[in-house]
Amino acid sequence: MILLGLNIDHCATVRQARYRAVAPGAEPAVEPDPVALAVQAEKAGADGITIHLREDRRHIIDADVARVRAEIGTRMNLEMACTAEMTAVAKKLKPDSVCLVPENRAEVTTEGGLDVVGQRDRVAGIIDAMGEIGVKVSLFIDPDEPQIAMAAELGAPWVELHTGSWANAYYTDRRAEEFARLVRGAEQAHAAGLVVNAGHGINYENVAEIRGLPHLHECNIGHSIISRALFSGF
Ligand code: PXP
Repeated sequence: MILLGLNIDHCATVRQARYRAVAPGAEPAVEPDPVALAVQAEKAGADGITIHLREDRRHIIDADVARVRAEIGTRMNLEMACTAEMTAVAKKLKPDSVCLVPENRAEVTTEGGLDVVGQRDRVAGIIDAMGEIGVKVSLFIDPDEPQIAMAAELGAPWVELHTGSWANAYYTDRRAEEFARLVRGAEQAHAAGLVVNAGHGINYENVAEIRGLPHLHECNIGHSIISRALFSGF
């Protein structure tokens, strides 16, 4: 069975659109609460909760991270940039796992995988720091041979293959080519002893194809589930 990690960032995005600055005493009005959503998602069968604490705190804020750690009963996967600040947050929080992602202030959402070849030493340092406190590390990378080889060399137990290029190509004539790239990446990662996860842009339609990715352990999905919930609720 392929596991589901629910990414709750987009619930926080909706909250922040109204309640970025909350006047003292107004907290009961704050909605939607991403942590309450996480708890509901677990009841509905999600295998883990993924949140991305960005440097600019544009959606998930520090209080969410602490509450998710305290209130959920499954696994907490903290997506984070490769910075000293985030490493300190992870050390204090001790999530079940961290997923290292690239972060660029100007992007609307994560675009492209982490360049572990170019940032070898920095990534290795975080893997070591997390290893010391028993936190598993996943590397969010594009399904490219050098990146996967480096992930294995650095001893990260997991990779999350970035499915964004494939998702963007899904309704074009490049879909088969992009899926073949993911398949090659999954085969290579598995052969190198890495656990294969996948995420970004997976939705209710294309998930049927992603289920066919060999060795797939877990999918992290956010935007499509939040979007569908919004619409069906409405
Ligand atoms: N995995 C990673 C590493 C992400 O950064 C994101 C969000 O950008 C996701 C999975 C979920 O992507 P989506 O919201 O498109 O489902």
